Amino acid sequence: MAGRANRAAMLTPGEKGVAMPPKLVAFVGSPRPGGNTDTLADAALSAFAQAGGEAEKVILNSLSIRPCQGCLACMRGDGLEDFCAVRDDMQGLHRKLLEADALLWATPVYMWSPSAQMKTFLDRLFPFGDYQKTRWRAALAGKPVGLAIVYADPDPLTSGVVQTRDVLRAVVEASGGRVAFVVHTAADQRGDVARNAAVLERMRAAASALFAACTPAEPD
Ligand SMILES: Cc1cc2nc3c(=O)[nH]c(=O)nc-3n(C[C@H](O)[C@H](O)[C@H](O)COP(=O)(O)O)c2cc1C
Repeated sequence: MAGRANRAAMLTPGEKGVAMPPKLVAFVGSPRPGGNTDTLADAALSAFAQAGGEAEKVILNSLSIRPCQGCLACMRGDGLEDFCAVRDDMQGLHRKLLEADALLWATPVYMWSPSAQMKTFLDRLFPFGDYQKTRWRAALAGKPVGLAIVYADPDPLTSGVVQTRDVLRAVVEASGGRVAFVVHTAADQRGDVARNAAVLERMRAAASALFAACTPAEPD
């Protein structure tokens, strides 16, 4: 897969030939540590790790990620050492996205939309869009992306989960990735997801299937 090929290219000669487990990186858009989104992401990460993979969590709220400045340097691609002219923590995240074998984008619904932390991250993926002419156009190159969404309103039709899912999905697909699954649930108070065994099980099953999809079958 593209992620493992990217990571393999960075190995020293002595490290090459060692089987590398697939890596899942979860990007969490909630500002509440231990809240519902975080708990759902942890369920995915622990299931992926239990299956034999490598798992990493990125809390967007803990990083310095400025909003896109609309300079369009990424569209021209000229003179850019990296994917984006804005020098902040997003530089490392572009690389993390490419190096992972699988991704999870997890967000609460805020005002019928992804949280501001998640939306700022999505805007900064403008360099990866299929509308770009640069070599990093659609850079996710078929990478599977799971989506996890929580919201307080128990009616999915009025909660904003549909709009939030559609925004996340459009960015995944425009960036060349593919949506592997969507796990969503109504949850409001901290601990609601932790008490919801059914949604935790759905998330664990989705993450285990993601691991299997990232793992080449053994030859007979
Ligand atoms: C600023 C703000 C806006 C919100 N907007 C919505 C909304 O549009 N629809 C909804 O169903 N819940 C909304 N919620 C509720 C959260 O999505 C819900 O409490 C969620 O469980 C929070 O996830 P967390 O524990 O990961 O932070 C909002 C909460 C906040 C703080």
